[in-house]
Amino acid sequence: MPHTFDVAVIGAGPGGYVAAIRCAQLGLKTVCIDAGTNPKGEPALGGTCLNVGCIPSKALLESSEHYARLAHGLAAHGIAVDGARIDIGQMLARKDKIVARSTAGIAFLFKKNKVQWKPGRGRLLATGGHCHVEIVNGEAREEIEARYVIIASGSVPAELPMFPVDGERVVDSSGALGFREVPKRLGIIGAGVIALELGSVWRRLGAEVTLLETREAFLPAVDSQVAAEALKLYTREQGLAIRLGVKTKSLHKSASGVVVEFDDTDGAQQLECDKLLVAAGRVPNTADLNAMVVGLKRDARGFIEVDDECRTSLPNVYAIGDCVRGPMLAHKASDEGLAVAERIAGERPQINYDAIPSVIYTAPEIAWVGATEQALKEGGVAYRKGVFGFLASGRAQALGEAQGFVKVLADERSDRILGVHMIGPRVSELVSEAVVAMEFAAAAEDLARISHAHPTLSEALREAALAALGRPLHQ
Ligand code: FAD
Ligand code: NAI
Repeated sequence: MPHTFDVAVIGAGPGGYVAAIRCAQLGLKTVCIDAGTNPKGEPALGGTCLNVGCIPSKALLESSEHYARLAHGLAAHGIAVDGARIDIGQMLARKDKIVARSTAGIAFLFKKNKVQWKPGRGRLLATGGHCHVEIVNGEAREEIEARYVIIASGSVPAELPMFPVDGERVVDSSGALGFREVPKRLGIIGAGVIALELGSVWRRLGAEVTLLETREAFLPAVDSQVAAEALKLYTREQGLAIRLGVKTKSLHKSASGVVVEFDDTDGAQQLECDKLLVAAGRVPNTADLNAMVVGLKRDARGFIEVDDECRTSLPNVYAIGDCVRGPMLAHKASDEGLAVAERIAGERPQINYDAIPSVIYTAPEIAWVGATEQALKEGGVAYRKGVFGFLASGRAQALGEAQGFVKVLADERSDRILGVHMIGPRVSELVSEAVVAMEFAAAAEDLARISHAHPTLSEALREAALAALGRPLHQ
């Protein structure tokens, strides 16, 4: 007889592990099946986010930022440092330690909440009534039965046939988190989020970094005023070479690295580099679920089709996170995991997809929630905008990080906040206030009337709200 559970979760990234913990908290007998492993080949929970995504990338961003500041960012404070150097081995060891601690933390939480963890690859055998799932772990096979299944199988880097990843000279994001030395010349295919974050890491440590991007527009999903400011800072001040509107064609090996052939408006070009990072998007990881056999519907790109409440085409089978529509973000995956667990337990949670924040962890950071100004214009929405530059923020001046601005977009008539866009110091933290405001359907005037401690960066948000009302105080 197969083991029987209330819920089987496939995948233990931020979607799956959160879903599993919440199911267990709600009294459901829960198993979580996960195929993830660490570099030693041992089972490791946490998915892309903890092992090769959010957490290790932020660890390296932090280390490289400290180094850049020490090497050339402290003169204005009167601090001179001679001979600053970085030990890449130690930097990577610190990152690996943070990852190991984080993944072990999930194993602890599973134990604490009585979630059964089964390492291995899960695939659906049959659904309808009870769902049957087969778990393959090396040579071992096991079948379990569950009333509900939550698929949280995540995503993997998109592969480009003309730029095959060899893990040596041509790498994906996981490879670029583990370079043992600073590449002299780093080429990157794509100028999206991964390219900018990991490109910044290695640029700060001394690499010459060139991004080759097919799109004409830089960061088209970002508010265009923010994107223009970011492009200026990344290229002019930080020395990232960003080539937009190119057609990348092919790759060949050279004596010391690789050569990328591409076209731009001046014709055929070449980029020679020691390492090439392919960061051209991510694709859903849904190939191993036995979807065709059981009739689980996927779209043309492989995303599992779901409704607004993450129900798939199969009864009692839900899907969440990167393997379904919507932004590929860890917190979106977790939000869906929580909501699905509560739905299975008979509750009626709602996710407000319009209030999911996005962050790009460069320096300065970029963060936003809600509609961009270009989207409001395209939609014919009448709006007012208020912009406040960090140049006029006493706290940003004291930090020595007065670049960027906060922009509040509010409905012309009702004053309801429609979008908040930021580029500047620690805006990944500031954006949460805007999210709360939007969730509570706040008006710009609400933000403008709330007391903000002085001197803090958060005052810039209040000032931008005041500016949207036409009465900024400090500019
Ligand atoms: P995943 O985290 O991909 O987890 C899926 C899990 O399911 C994996 O462990 C996988 O092995 C397992 N699995 C797959 N198929 C099976 C199967 N058949 N059986 C058993 N197990 C299976 N997002 C942010 O919000 N903020 C960031 O700062 C950020 N930084 C990132 C940096 C990088 C370099 C990368 C690559 C991504 C980053 N992301 C970030 C995106 C974030 O990692 C993903 O959105 C998030 O991990 C998605 O969570 P998930 O649970 O849907 O899937
Ligand atoms: P992305 O979609 O952000 O950027 C990929 C870029 O590559 C696009 O601009 C695309 O036009 C370009 N591209 C595609 N094919 C190309 C080609 N052949 N030649 C040149 N350019 C090409 O995807 P990215 O950076 O790989 O990240 C994947 C996802 O991971 C993101 O969409 C995001 O959801 C998530 N992520 C989130 C982070 C965060 O929240 N801070 C950090 C890192 C990743």
